[in-house]
Amino acid sequence: MHKDSAPWWRSAVIYQIYIRSFADRSGDGVGDIAGIRSRLPYLRDLGVDAIWITPWYPSPMVDAGYDVADYTGIDPRFGTVTDAEALIAEAHDHGMRVILDIVPNHTSDRHAWFEAALAAGPGSPERDRYMFRQGTGPGGELPPNDWRGMFGGSAWTRVPDGEWYLHLFADAQPDLDWENTEVRRDFEKVLGFWFDRGVDGFRIDVAHGLIKQEGLPDVGEAGDVLEPTKREDHPHWDRDGVHEIFREWRKVADRYDGDRTFTAEAWVSGPKRLARYVRPGELQTAFNFDFLRAPWDARSLREVIDTSLEALGAVGAPATWVLSNHDVVRHVTRYGRAHTEGRGPRADVVEPLDLALGIRRARAAALLMLALPGGAYVYQGEELGLAEVEDIPEEFLQDPVWERSGHTARGRDGCRVPLPWSGDAPPFGFSADGATPWLPQPKAWKDLTAEAQTGEPGSMLELYRTALRLRHDHPALGEGDLRWQESPEGVLVFSRTPGLVCAVNLSEAPYTLPAHRDVLLASGPLEAGTLPPDTAAWLAVDD
Ligand code: NOJ
Repeated sequence: MHKDSAPWWRSAVIYQIYIRSFADRSGDGVGDIAGIRSRLPYLRDLGVDAIWITPWYPSPMVDAGYDVADYTGIDPRFGTVTDAEALIAEAHDHGMRVILDIVPNHTSDRHAWFEAALAAGPGSPERDRYMFRQGTGPGGELPPNDWRGMFGGSAWTRVPDGEWYLHLFADAQPDLDWENTEVRRDFEKVLGFWFDRGVDGFRIDVAHGLIKQEGLPDVGEAGDVLEPTKREDHPHWDRDGVHEIFREWRKVADRYDGDRTFTAEAWVSGPKRLARYVRPGELQTAFNFDFLRAPWDARSLREVIDTSLEALGAVGAPATWVLSNHDVVRHVTRYGRAHTEGRGPRADVVEPLDLALGIRRARAAALLMLALPGGAYVYQGEELGLAEVEDIPEEFLQDPVWERSGHTARGRDGCRVPLPWSGDAPPFGFSADGATPWLPQPKAWKDLTAEAQTGEPGSMLELYRTALRLRHDHPALGEGDLRWQESPEGVLVFSRTPGLVCAVNLSEAPYTLPAHRDVLLASGPLEAGTLPPDTAAWLAVDD
C-alpha cells in the first residue's frame, strides 16, 4: 500500500500527552486541557500526526486518572467537556488527530456503578457488573484465590457484608465483569459519546485483561509487580474471550467516517499473541512492547523487528513502535545502564548510570524507530531527551506502587515529571503564575527546555523535528517493506525503498558506511565516512 493512500494510522507518529504533566494553564501545578491547547502549535511544528491524551475523566486520581469515575465527563482539574471539544477541533485545524485513553478493565471505586453495587448487596444485578465473590476459609475470611494486584498485594478486597471484589490494580480500581451484557452496552455508548465529539480513536488500557477464566482458578505463581506474563494460558491475561469484545468495538468505530482507530495496550507473551488483537475486523494497531523491552543489542533488536513484522504482516496489520511511556523508565536512562533489557531497573539492583551514553543511544534509537515500517509513538519529553528522575524525594511520590509495595518500589513517578518548556528555573514554563508543579523538576532541566533546545543543531528536539519532517516527506518512510543489508556483527543496516538506508551501530567499533549519495540525517557526528558506536544515520542511496 502506498503511504499516501493507506489509512493514516498505518504510519502515524502519535505523541503521548500525559495530561497532568504536559502544561498547566490554570496555575494549580497540574497540567490541563487549556495547557494542551496552548501547546498545539509546538506539536504541529514537531511534526506529529496525532496526539494521545491519557485519561482526563473525573477521577479520585488514586492511579493518576486510570481510576475513572465517569467515562463521559472531564475532571474539573483538567477542564470541561466544552474545553475538550474545543481542543479536538483545534487539533484538527492544525492537521493532527486526537486519540483518547479508554479504561475498560476497571472503574474507580467512586464510579456510580460501583457505589450502587456496594449499596445493593450480594446477589444483586448491580454487583454483577463487577467481580464479587465469596471468600475461602471457614468464615470466608481468605481471598477467593491467589491472584496478586499489579501494584502489589492481593487482588481482592473484602467489603463489610463479607464479599470480596477483584481488582487487578489498586483496591480503588474494581474490575468490571465483561461477561455482563450491560457492561458491554455501556462501553459502546461511551465510545459513541466521544466519536460523536470528533475523536479519532482510542488507546485501550489493559486490553488483555478484560476476560477472566471461568471459575477464577489460582495463578499458582508469584509474578513480578508490573511485569507481564510469559504464559499463554494465564487465568486473567490474554484470554481468547477479549477478541469478541474488540470485534464489537470495531463495528462501532466503522459506523463513523474518517478512519477511526484503536490501539491495544496488551502486555502479552510475544508478537504472535499480539497479532491476534489486530486481525481483520478487530483493532487496527497494538503497542509493540517487545521493542521497548529489548536490550540495546543488535541481534535482539533485529529479532524483535523481524518477528513483529512477520506476525503482524501475516494478519495485514502495521507495526507500532514505542520506546517509552508513562509506565516505564525513560529510555535515556534504560540505555545508560549496563543492563538495558526490560522496562526499567529492578527495585533491588540499581546500576550506575552513564547519562551521556544513554542520550547517545536514545538519539540512535529514535532514528531506528522512525525508520521502521509502520507507525510510532513518542512519549512527551522523549523529544527533549529527558531522563528518568530517580531522586524524587519520597514525600512527593504518588504512584500507588510506592505504598502497595511497602516502599520497596518507587513506581513510575520518575517518568511523569512535568515538562520543562522555558526559563532557567522550575516550573520552567510548565505552570501558569509560577505555580509549583505536582512533582518537583530537576534544576538541571534548564538546559533541556523546549526553548533552550529550539534552533540548537545538536539538540534532541531538533533531531526529532528533522527526523519527523524527513519521515513525512520521504516516500520510503512510514508504511512499506524493510530489507536487511549485509553488515558486521553489532550493526543494523536496512534499506527502505525508494532510496533510503538506515544504519545503526550498536557495536564497539566504528562502521564504514555503505555507498550513498547523501547523509540525510545522523544521530551524532560522523567520522570520515564512518559511523561511530551508538550512532545511527539515514542515507540517501540509489536503489
Ligand atoms: C496501564 C496504564 O498505562 C497504567 O498507567 C495504569 O496504572 C494501568 N494500566 C491500570 O489502569
